[in-house]
Amino acid sequence: KFSKYAAVFAGLVLLTVLTGCAGQGESRRIIRIAHGQSETHPEHLGLLAFKEYVEEKLGDKYEIQIFPNEILGSAQKAIELTQTGAIDFVVAGTANLETFADVYEIFSMPYLFDSPEIYESVMNDKDYMKNIYESTDEAGFEALTWYNAGTRNFYAKKPIYAPEDLKGQKIRVQQSPASVKMMQAFGAAASPMSFGEVYTAIQQGVIEGAENNELALTNNKHGEVAKYYSYDQHQMVPDMLIGNLKFLEGLTEEERKIFEEAADISTQTEQEKWAEQIEEAKNIAENQMGVEFIEVDVDAFKEKVLPLHEEMLEKNEDIRDFYEYIQEINEKAAED
Ligand code: GCU
Repeated sequence: KFSKYAAVFAGLVLLTVLTGCAGQGESRRIIRIAHGQSETHPEHLGLLAFKEYVEEKLGDKYEIQIFPNEILGSAQKAIELTQTGAIDFVVAGTANLETFADVYEIFSMPYLFDSPEIYESVMNDKDYMKNIYESTDEAGFEALTWYNAGTRNFYAKKPIYAPEDLKGQKIRVQQSPASVKMMQAFGAAASPMSFGEVYTAIQQGVIEGAENNELALTNNKHGEVAKYYSYDQHQMVPDMLIGNLKFLEGLTEEERKIFEEAADISTQTEQEKWAEQIEEAKNIAENQMGVEFIEVDVDAFKEKVLPLHEEMLEKNEDIRDFYEYIQEINEKAAED
């Protein structure tokens, strides 16, 4: 742990030195964005589009640098760096944000959305989402946009056909108290850790499995060490582009508009690439990595964790409005 912090600190010192030198005689402000995915992941491609748009419009003033692969630290660490303003933006899943801004706990609620279509339409409703994005000033950051991170499902060394197969299994969860609770309700032993640690933990048998979208199998290579992927569809957890509040408030109105346009473009790019890559990932995992995809009785999984809805609502008033709003949309979709 210590050496990781030391490495991050050394990295930041180096950055300061480097950017200090490059900045001589010019006054471009370097904007740093951290994320935990690889350079071929849809989010990285979305961020490249963000960079391109901002630099095209405001290139005399800003230069954007993107740091992938958790090189500035795990999600939790990178969120802290964004909070304090050591860096300007981070892409983080809402599960990792919930301990910083509790409204984001809503997305950790299992089976919140009845379908991916409902989820995507809610997330793409910018007017509604703005209420949430702008509700976290106290945490020192604000969301600019969201990225699709699909539906989360279990994958493990041994096949999971029914909730009973999870009993006593050590399964990795994100550093999210709500996800720990969910895992316990499923009957498994939750093992919270950062994303970058999961591959080795499965490989070495520290955990039996994890849960994520299909790109974790291919882009993060988890399919090399876990050969069974079960479509129980327990969560749809989005990733957020989070910006330091002071930085965002320091922008002129015109600049802010350009950053928001850039954010929209990055989301469009990410969603297009997401749809392509998720299809590819299933194919690669099944045909090249030998991963078996298992269709399960989703209702059997749902039944185990539905009592969590009430429990979570009772404990966190900040998620109630959004919860009720989504329930209405779920119900309407069921009637149509
Ligand atoms: C997905 C998601 C990340 C998240 C990761 C995880 O890759 O896009 O934001 O951190 O899952 O499970 O930790």
